[in-house]
Amino acid sequence: MPIFFDEKANSFKLDTPNSSYIIKIMPLGYVSHLYYGGRISDSDVDYLYQCIERPYSTNPDGIKTRDFSLEHLPQEYPCNGTGDFRTSAITIRTEKGNTSTDLRYKSYKIYAGKPKLEGLPAVYTEDEGQADTLELILEDKVSGAEVTLIYTAFRSLDVMTRSVKVTNRSSAPIAIERIMSTSVDFNESEYDFIHLYGTWANERMVSRTKLHHGKQGFESKRGTSSHQHNPFFALAMPNTDENMGEVYGFNMVYSGNHFSEVEVDGFKTTRAIMGINPTDFEWFLERGETFTAPEVVMVYSNKGLGEMSRTYHKLYQNHLCRGEWRYKRRPILINNWEATYFDFDDDKLIHIAKGAAELGIEMLVMDDGWFGRRNDDYTSLGDWFVNEEKLKGGLSSLVERVNAVGIKFGIWVEPEMISPDSDLYRAHPEWCLQVEGRAFTTGRSQLVLDMTRKDVRDYLFKVLSDIFSCTNIEYVKWDMNRHLTEVGSLLIPANRQKEIFHRYVLGVYDILERITLAFPHILFEGCSGGGGRFDPGMLYYSPQIWTSDDTDAMERVKIQWGTSMCYPVSSMGAHVSACPNHQTMRDTSFETRGAIAMSGTFGYELDVNKLSEKEKEMVKKQVHKFKEYYDVITYGDHYRLLDPFKNSLRAAWGFISQDKNEILITFVQIKGEASGPLYKIRFAGADPNKKYQDTATGRIYRGDTLINAGIMIPYILGDGVTYMCHLKTV
Ligand code: GLA
Repeated sequence: MPIFFDEKANSFKLDTPNSSYIIKIMPLGYVSHLYYGGRISDSDVDYLYQCIERPYSTNPDGIKTRDFSLEHLPQEYPCNGTGDFRTSAITIRTEKGNTSTDLRYKSYKIYAGKPKLEGLPAVYTEDEGQADTLELILEDKVSGAEVTLIYTAFRSLDVMTRSVKVTNRSSAPIAIERIMSTSVDFNESEYDFIHLYGTWANERMVSRTKLHHGKQGFESKRGTSSHQHNPFFALAMPNTDENMGEVYGFNMVYSGNHFSEVEVDGFKTTRAIMGINPTDFEWFLERGETFTAPEVVMVYSNKGLGEMSRTYHKLYQNHLCRGEWRYKRRPILINNWEATYFDFDDDKLIHIAKGAAELGIEMLVMDDGWFGRRNDDYTSLGDWFVNEEKLKGGLSSLVERVNAVGIKFGIWVEPEMISPDSDLYRAHPEWCLQVEGRAFTTGRSQLVLDMTRKDVRDYLFKVLSDIFSCTNIEYVKWDMNRHLTEVGSLLIPANRQKEIFHRYVLGVYDILERITLAFPHILFEGCSGGGGRFDPGMLYYSPQIWTSDDTDAMERVKIQWGTSMCYPVSSMGAHVSACPNHQTMRDTSFETRGAIAMSGTFGYELDVNKLSEKEKEMVKKQVHKFKEYYDVITYGDHYRLLDPFKNSLRAAWGFISQDKNEILITFVQIKGEASGPLYKIRFAGADPNKKYQDTATGRIYRGDTLINAGIMIPYILGDGVTYMCHLKTV
């Protein structure tokens, strides 16, 4: 059994194929953490923690000796204010106003499968044989809080998920001031801290630094997971690279304010926590009520960062993304945003659609600007009614015309937003987030709807359903273009206003759940000013997300590289756009723009009619190639080969199909060099026992040759030049 209780040792052991995790119940019911790492056979590993008397530490009541102190005990779920002075996982305030919290073990449950988390996205299993779950039930006798730690271990992936439920078992209300979804103690500190930072148009840059004494971490308090810090970090041994070494990944299935902190104490132990950001958070629980914290997905790899990423990719493709589009081939689309911005009408769109259809593109996406009086970004969000001056004959007529040229139709919406200049705002000023007496802060001249309100969500469900069902809409881009300020709701009582940030996210999940279930045939693509909400929470509802508003191919190399740290290529929206690029003014060859967008969901974001005949021929070729490579890119194992964060001149990555019969390697010369080196790319993913043939040159390599000697990149001069090598077994 992958999870079992060793009665003699009083310990729980959870196994995945290559990792083990051991928890021990200590005297007085303290729950300690003894081990997380490569798979081991022993469940009694008491020796890994030694009680040592440390002067100046505190000792719990009931322990006669001075060598047991919570400050030095590795713990599963450390509490606040009762002797562990490191960063804590939970703080509960009692009705009397005290925040010291003391959780002790009460009971456990082990069962096959994985439970759902109410109202929250989470990784799922499709049958009970895929994973096993341990629930540890703890209680705080003074506050009456019952805390359930939920651990699920996957049977065929090195994945452990954690989440937490708190139920108020007392007769008085309690308040949760802080609740982490996971906390892991390590008895060493020689790790590198890897995380993904960024800004708008520069998301998920990779940062790798040595852990140091004290606290290091990041957070979002913007109401979304944010461009600035993705809810992901990893702890890697200093020698860990793409192909070897130990690494622990942490990724939170949450789209709101998150918080990650790693603390190294004076004894060189490390505590890693991740959960809802405690800033501006508090949750009241009346008697009998339960709060569920979002899930954190922990991945262990002893085969480097590459293996960690591939585990996340497989998990998210197979156990997070849902619905018809999980495995269905996604259409190659053309989006009119960078082609027209707000300046379009039905004829212009049809002209683009026709041109696109002739080149083999499969869907037209009409972006922002089709509703209300939206001719710029100062107005009309909330007025989800077709602007018939622009789209003469309405939406149905447009969609019929698009379908008649032989392609599908998709549409852009930004449901969570409201423009002060909109009929919706004039009718319902009470529907946006606001603090009485305080002026609004706008972002892109817009305000945010109060998604905590059911009437708002019901309204949105109705208007969106009307649009999505009035004609043949096959794709929806769900955007969200500002962060949250003046986070107040007119319907929520004063003592619960700090619940709003989280309630907002729950509201977004609620409407997304309702809409995606009501329109299962629609392919949803998430978006937030590009990749500002690229997180596992959103992937539960939309299997693809617009990776970044930066469509510059050279900058995308880094953005897509960082994103691949935990998100599959099948989830990354990537388009070929016009040059000079609108974000950087850079010119990059059409071929290279195509090669880089192909390591994503692939599409175009330009007016095909403005392309030269030669470029049009290239579109045809790219469409054809992408279809040919679709399976290996979408379902293959992804290998990062040459790191653009270490070498700003070049990058490479590759894919290998699950049956190991097809390989695709992409090499990019980011900046040309007059006397550059000759480059060799070794592909660790190849099957050493197979023979692969380069489909362009006919050259045959044994798999072990690809692994150890690699392929040579032809000497190519110039900025932004790519070379793609496609190999198949013979
Ligand atoms: C955001 C998106 C863009 C585009 C615009 C429209 O910035 O990321 O792709 O849809 O909004 O306003």
